[in-house]
Formats: sequence, C-alpha cells, structure tokens
Amino acid sequence: MTQPDPTIKPVRLGMIGLGAATVPVLRVMARSPLIQLVAAADLRPQSLAAFREQFGGNTYERVEDLCADPEVEAVWIATPNQFHCPHAVLAAKAGKHVFVEKPMALSVEEAQQMVDAAEASGVQLMCGRTAATRPPMAALINLVASGQLGKMRAVNAFAYTNWAFRPRMPQEVSLATGGGIVFRQLPHQVDVVRVLGGGMLRSVRAQTGDWFKARAVPGYAAVFLEFEDGTPSLLAYNGYGYFTAWDILPWAGDSPYEQLGTRIRRQLRETGSSPEEGEAKESARFGGAPPSQPAARPPTSSAYQGDVGVIVVSCDLGDIRQSPKGLYVYDDDGRREIEVSNEQADGATDLEEIYGALRLGKPPVHDGRWGLATLEVVMAVMQSARERREIMLQHQCPVRG
Ligand SMILES: NC(=O)c1ccc[n+]([C@@H]2O[C@H](COP(=O)([O-])OP(=O)(O)OC[C@H]3O[C@@H](n4cnc5c(N)ncnc54)[C@H](O)[C@@H]3O)[C@@H](O)[C@H]2O)c1
Repeated sequence: MTQPDPTIKPVRLGMIGLGAATVPVLRVMARSPLIQLVAAADLRPQSLAAFREQFGGNTYERVEDLCADPEVEAVWIATPNQFHCPHAVLAAKAGKHVFVEKPMALSVEEAQQMVDAAEASGVQLMCGRTAATRPPMAALINLVASGQLGKMRAVNAFAYTNWAFRPRMPQEVSLATGGGIVFRQLPHQVDVVRVLGGGMLRSVRAQTGDWFKARAVPGYAAVFLEFEDGTPSLLAYNGYGYFTAWDILPWAGDSPYEQLGTRIRRQLRETGSSPEEGEAKESARFGGAPPSQPAARPPTSSAYQGDVGVIVVSCDLGDIRQSPKGLYVYDDDGRREIEVSNEQADGATDLEEIYGALRLGKPPVHDGRWGLATLEVVMAVMQSARERREIMLQHQCPVRG
C-alpha cells in the first residue's frame, strides 16, 4: 500500500449536486490525495445517505447550509445549469473557492456576475471538466503546444452522438435552462479548440438544427470559428445521431446508452414521452435507485472521448488524430502512434488545477474568465444561428501559463 505524501495538504471539498455527472468524478476524488470530500448538498436524500456512507462528512439539503460549513474550503458545483450562477455567487460570498461544471452559466451576464463575486471575495473561480482535460485530448494539446509539428493551421471536430436520446430531465431539453447540445456539448469542442489555438477567437458563424419534435431544443450545430490570427476551426455536432462517431473509430467501444437511446427515441417519436427515461436518469445518479432493467446501465468509459467527436489537427509539418492507443501523427516519415496513458481519468486534471490554484499558487487555465470566454462562444453560436450572420467576440482571453 502506498503511504500518503505528508507534503500534500488536500483541499477540503464540498459537493453541490450529486447527480449523474458526479459519479465518475467522485470515483476519482475518492482515490485522489489532492482532495478530501468533507460535505455534500442535494435535494435528494438517497444521494446524501450514499455520500455519508461512502465518504462520511456533513450533508445538507440546502446549498446555503453547505456554504456556511467551516469545514468546506471549496465547492464543486454540479447542479442543473440554471443554478450554476446562483450557487457559485452564494459560495463565493461565503468565502468558498468555486469549481463549476460546464456550461458555466446561462448567459455571459451571469458568468460576469460569477467572476465579479469571486473577485470581490478573493476566491478562485474555475470552470471545467471538459474534454480538454481528458486523454487523449490533453496529450493532443501538449503535442501541438510543443511546436514539434510547427504552427497549427486548422482544427476540425466531427461528433455524431445520441445525446438527445439519453435519459434527460426537462431542464436538459429546454433552452431556457441551458439545455440542448449547444449549451451542454459544444463547450467540450470549443474548449479543446480554444486551448489548442491559444484562446483568442475572433468570430463565430454557425447554424443550429432543432428537428426532433419531442426535444424542442437544438440537437445539431455546424460552427465555423476563426482565431485572431486567422486560424480556422470547423465543428460539427449531431446529437440526434442514428450513427455515432464511435462507429468510425472501431477501438472506441460502445457509445453510451446505445440500446436505451434507441428505445427512448422511438418512444418519444411515437408518444411524445418516454416512460423509461426518468427511472434511467435516477439510476445513473450517485446513490440513485438501482435500475429495474439492466439496459439502464451508465455509459462505459473509454480513452476515446466520443462526445467530443473525431478531432483532426493540421500543422505545418503534420496532421494529428485519435488512435487506438492515443494519437496518430502523420508527417514526412509516414504514420506513427503515440501512446497516451489513460490514467488521467475523468476529472483528475481538474483536481490538479484546483490543487495547483489553492495550494501551489498556480493560475488555473480554466479560471472564471476562461469559462466566460468559452460561454461567449456558445452564446454566439446561438446568436449567429438566429441572426444568420457572423458574430464578433469581445471577451476572449489567452491561455495562461
Ligand atoms: N463535464 C461533463 O462531461 C458533464 C457530463 C454530464 C453533465 N455535466 C454537467 O453537470 C451538471 C449536472 O448534470 P447531471 O446530468 O448530473 O444532472 P442530474 O439531474 O443528474 O444532477 C443534478 C443534481 O443536482 C441536484 N439539485 C438540483 N437542484 C438542486 C438544488 N437547488 N440544490 C441542491 N441540489 C440540487 C439534483 O437533485 C441532482 O442530484 C450539469 O451542469 C451538466 O451540464 C457535465
């Protein structure tokens, strides 16, 4: 058994929201020496009971009470999107450092309120857990940043998923509460592209698609991004996919909720609602009721980050894309494969960013201003689609460090 490192002083973290998104992260947190889980808040008693049983610590039904807990040094916000801003402002005003799940908020104005609240209280605000911090995207980012292949000239991302037909709550499929693939999925692609290109996007031209009646929210987006230096990026995301991008990368394993998603699609089309999805969503949450049907199992994890899609980066001296073991690099010598460790499981790099910011004085890449800039792109995608024109960006910031 490895001994704890006495020089590490773990960050005392309180979880706000113990839903489906936190299941993989809690697994990583439980093993991480950088984090100590000391409290949780959720409206659902079953998740709070499961938290007490697994981690000990204080549990609360009200976020206000968690924010008043002196044991809590920082909070991880994973409540539905419409609560990200109010919960982050509450925590910042209580003097807690804040990490918030993507999407940061429902508007640039809300994101600005969060940044202002954190600055006024002198606490760190971070917004992350996107594909940019997971293998093999993190390795792709490091390879491009190393300059080995010269300047990056273009980056294209192509995702086909069944996002619209995974088990969903009403707020996940309503634009007013940050639902649909533009709010929920584009932050992954946009974050990867912004980090790769240095952060400073110039403009957005986009079109969105909303073509499944029972999910009245964008499930498709086609986006053209241009960086300040002229570097282009094309993003395509189809969350209504019958076909998924996993199919063209045969090593990727199953796409999440393949069979259940097919049933939910058919039920929604035929009757306008799905009797299965409420139970399936609950069973995917931390401490949620076990599913009555085995098909409601949560997604399998894979080194291939399918929701971000197939990503191809073109540089002066080569092209890079995902491979079975990590990345393929194509250059003057042909094709070679770079192995990427899958150790950095979902959320691990975010925990390192939190620890770095709070214990080592290391500025996080995914700070509040970065999150605001990524959200600005997401909002511009929707504005561009509505107004059918290019939107110029005003809140972009460079990658720090
Ligand atoms: N980074 C990723 O890859 C990723 C993946 C999935 C979801 N997410 C994000 O995580 C967040 C949650 O998504 P989810 O799928 O876990 O949803 P969910 O509905 O499963 O979980 C939300 C949890 O918040 C709790 N909650 C709701 N209102 C609350 C309140 N006022 N006070 C306290 N608790 C409250 C609910 O009871 C539930 O347990 C969303 O912002 C989503 O965008 C991120």
